[in-house]
Amino acid sequence: MILSELNNRRRALVAEMPINSVAILSSANRNYRSRDVENPYRQDSDFLYMTGISEPDLLNIIYGENGKIFSILFRDNNTEQEKIWIGERLNNSQILENYGFTEIHSYEGCHKKLLDFIKNKETIYIETSLNKELDKFIANQISNSSQNNRLNSLFPKKIAALHSITQKLRLVKSDYEINLIKKAAKVSIKGHEQAMKKSKPGIYEYELDAEIRYIFNKNNMDCAYMSIVGGGNNACTLHYINNNDILKDKNLVLIDAAAECEGYASDITRTFPVNGKFTEEQSKIYDIVLEAQEKAIEFVKPGVTWDQVHEITIKIIVSGLIRLEILSRDIDEIIDSELYKDFFMHKTGHWLGLDVHDVGTYENKLFEPGMVITVEPGIYIDSSNKNVLEKWRGIGIRIEDDVLITKNGNEVLTKDLVKKRNEIETVCSH
Ligand code: GLY
Ligand code: MN
Ligand code: MN
Repeated sequence: MILSELNNRRRALVAEMPINSVAILSSANRNYRSRDVENPYRQDSDFLYMTGISEPDLLNIIYGENGKIFSILFRDNNTEQEKIWIGERLNNSQILENYGFTEIHSYEGCHKKLLDFIKNKETIYIETSLNKELDKFIANQISNSSQNNRLNSLFPKKIAALHSITQKLRLVKSDYEINLIKKAAKVSIKGHEQAMKKSKPGIYEYELDAEIRYIFNKNNMDCAYMSIVGGGNNACTLHYINNNDILKDKNLVLIDAAAECEGYASDITRTFPVNGKFTEEQSKIYDIVLEAQEKAIEFVKPGVTWDQVHEITIKIIVSGLIRLEILSRDIDEIIDSELYKDFFMHKTGHWLGLDVHDVGTYENKLFEPGMVITVEPGIYIDSSNKNVLEKWRGIGIRIEDDVLITKNGNEVLTKDLVKKRNEIETVCSH
């Protein structure tokens, strides 16, 4: 993590807080799989954003005073027991130097020490429900201060939601962050290509899942979210994660899988034929989704809203389904009554960053350079849908790319992964 990046983030946070405020951030708790076996640790995204450190049992305070930014970390060096069981980690002096903190204090008993830093402040910016002990401590202080006049004058009078600021900061990515998303995208693309090459009738969805995961792990990355590998009608379950069915000849397989790099997610979906060749019906549906996706991406630029992008995909999908006589009414009537939701029931995309569904508001938000989004329309014709001819049933297709908004338009960060039918068929045949 480069220091200038962290310092920029701290400066930006302080600039957004009213004068005489302090932000208190808590690391994510350890998460146990069962008994004493832990799940892989994932830092809270806001904490990772402000500190760059992926460890539990940390507390960070950030504030500005006389034009200087202070970032105080509460952390303990590892004990002899930890060294025996888990191994070495950076010591506090290394952390102080590498991550640009102003001071480091022991985590043990940190809540009492916290008071020294916050007692004359007006407002605390904090995220509750992350650290129960900290919540309890703050609640106690508030209750004590309302009963005790001397403390009352010292303890901050207002509590505000930290995410109201961090979500604004995190929405626009720096070059450093964009580079990490690009790295994650590059490895994700390799994973998808591998799945296309390895696909054949008779293997199981989890085998393709494993091929993808192998590529991610070989590149020192992990999944940004649980992979979706849905053959045939399983593709119609939007967040299908069982991945335990057999892949059948003449079916499609939808793969929504991507890696994360240093906490930054990519998010890619491709849908391709299990046997490498699209059928006529699959081709017709595929080309509608592809047109919707490409036209929506073309439209993405500064000043545009999510609703406008969604409107484009809906129009193309609805007119395509009318053309194929899957929908039979007038286009405006279908759109107004949302009849298309039988086939396209999710939004066109979302913010992408430290979280795969990243922070940020959607309504009336204008795109700005540095924002990263996904564009991912789909058509899903469930096998149980008796309102359409049988030949269309069980086809589920989504195409998803990651798009950076630039000054003059956009850059598709996942453009190196094939998505035209003939290109997909070529990769599948290798
Ligand atoms: N991978 C989840 C999504 O595409 O939103
Ligand atoms: Mn997505
Ligand atoms: Mn996805």
